Amino acid sequence: MRPIAQSIGGELVTTKLAMRMEDSLQAFAVRAACFIGELDVPFSEEFDGHDFGATHVIAYVGDEPAGAVRLRWFQSFAMPERLAVIQRFRGHNIGGMLLERCRAQAQARGCNLLYAQALPRDVGYWEKQGWRRLVPEEAGAEPKRIVAMVKAVDPSKPLPEIEAPEAVVLRRDGQLDSTGMPHGTVSN
Ligand SMILES: CC(C)(COP(=O)(O)OP(=O)(O)OC[C@H]1O[C@@H](n2cnc3c(N)ncnc32)[C@H](O)[C@@H]1OP(=O)(O)O)[C@@H](O)C(=O)NCCC(=O)NCCS
Repeated sequence: MRPIAQSIGGELVTTKLAMRMEDSLQAFAVRAACFIGELDVPFSEEFDGHDFGATHVIAYVGDEPAGAVRLRWFQSFAMPERLAVIQRFRGHNIGGMLLERCRAQAQARGCNLLYAQALPRDVGYWEKQGWRRLVPEEAGAEPKRIVAMVKAVDPSKPLPEIEAPEAVVLRRDGQLDSTGMPHGTVSN
């Protein structure tokens, strides 16, 4: 794996956590360029309510936002997703730098497991970043649409046990009816 670039064209490569709305907008701009513009992901899939509760990490080349990832927090793991680097800044492992910032942030918060959902074509990327499949690939099994990947926050420690994280992250949030009550609420 190539080392993470310290500078590109004389400009420092840095990361920061979004603290102000303007920072979050920079993360959204990077994702819009990569996912909506480049990979044809519909806007409605790219952005969702989790964007308001997640931690956004942005990478900069000089002052220019060059990459972003969002980190969602669960009881027993942290989940990086929407990892993107603007095309012209690729090839310097800025994605690895963003994932390392996620790892360090998870460590600082006392979290010991990172969990991600990867497309099958990206599994090699995550493996290069030190992640592994949560469930080993079975020879001859139906190809998966998404692959669960995990990494210990402290690589010197064994991977903690984790109970079916998909059951947690894929659970639909409660829907409200027209009166603002959760569907299925019993009224007297
Ligand atoms: C994935 C992404 C963030 C990586 O950008 P980057 O940090 O510039 O990555 P680099 O080009 O420096 O590649 C880092 C390493 O990963 C490898 N790599 C990159 N994409 C890969 C892929 N899809 N599968 C396997 N390996 C991959 C590179 O070959 C390189 O390995 P090497 O150092 O051994 O040569 C970028 O390609 C991107 O934004 N893609 C579009 C958005 C996307 O698909 N996001 C989800 C991806 S998980």
